[in-house]
Amino acid sequence: MGIAEVHPFAKSIIMEAGERIRHSFSEKWKIETKADANDLVTNIDRETELFFIKKIKEFDASFKIFGEEGMGEKIDSLDGVVWIVDPIDGTMNFIRQHRNFAISIGVYVDGIGKLGYVYDVMRNQLYYGIDGRGAFMNEVPLKPLKPISLEKSIIGMNAIWVTPNKKIEHEPMIDLIRRIRGTRSYGSASLEIASVACGRMDAYISLRLSPWDIAGGAIIAKEVGAITSSLKNELINLSNQDTFIVANPGIHQEIIENYIKLK
Ligand code: IPD
Ligand code: CA
Ligand code: CA
Repeated sequence: MGIAEVHPFAKSIIMEAGERIRHSFSEKWKIETKADANDLVTNIDRETELFFIKKIKEFDASFKIFGEEGMGEKIDSLDGVVWIVDPIDGTMNFIRQHRNFAISIGVYVDGIGKLGYVYDVMRNQLYYGIDGRGAFMNEVPLKPLKPISLEKSIIGMNAIWVTPNKKIEHEPMIDLIRRIRGTRSYGSASLEIASVACGRMDAYISLRLSPWDIAGGAIIAKEVGAITSSLKNELINLSNQDTFIVANPGIHQEIIENYIKLK
């Protein structure tokens, strides 16, 4: 079976998981913190990840699952077919806003991205990309990105990076913001990557993302010609946390060369 034949299955379980998440608004959630007081997780994050593991293993027991909540097996390499799963990307939005969160899934074969999904659960919008076959939103093809200039760009980033901080020189970031048309911050990395793929935003910058935040979106972005890399302009890393940028091809290099000064 070719990996593209896995697509209808992947789509069906993502839609089913989305339905379960929407249904969960009528229940009382259990909310806990993880690494710090702002790192939230709910029973719905964990139950959704378990749902994916059960369904994927029933479909093909050889598929490996690398999920944010750690409910799958321990993965020490990307050999074979690996599903990289963020059951709810934007948990703080899920809890506080009841919108602006997504299911984010990438299916990799020997480390190569083959199928990428970002499902905006409350808008019922499924963004997906199939390696070499294009990207879509609810079956409508996404158009290849046309290069844009910085002056016309909208860039997604967290406001913290334009204040003094330990990770990046903030003065060049202020210069960048003065040059572009505007900034946005949605609080769900995968939805921000999907926004760049659709041309609603022209770049999205993060100083720390995990593999499950970017695994699905990166495949969608590639299919429309958006460029993804670390902020050191290295290939994205799907084993560890790293810096991240996805950008329209007209501005990727210019942002990194002229405005990103990591400490
Ligand atoms: C978070 C969101 C957020 C990003 C964080 C991620 P989570 O994912 O994508 O936008 O800034 O770095 O950890 O924890 O809600 O799955
Ligand atoms: Ca996430
Ligand atoms: Ca998550």
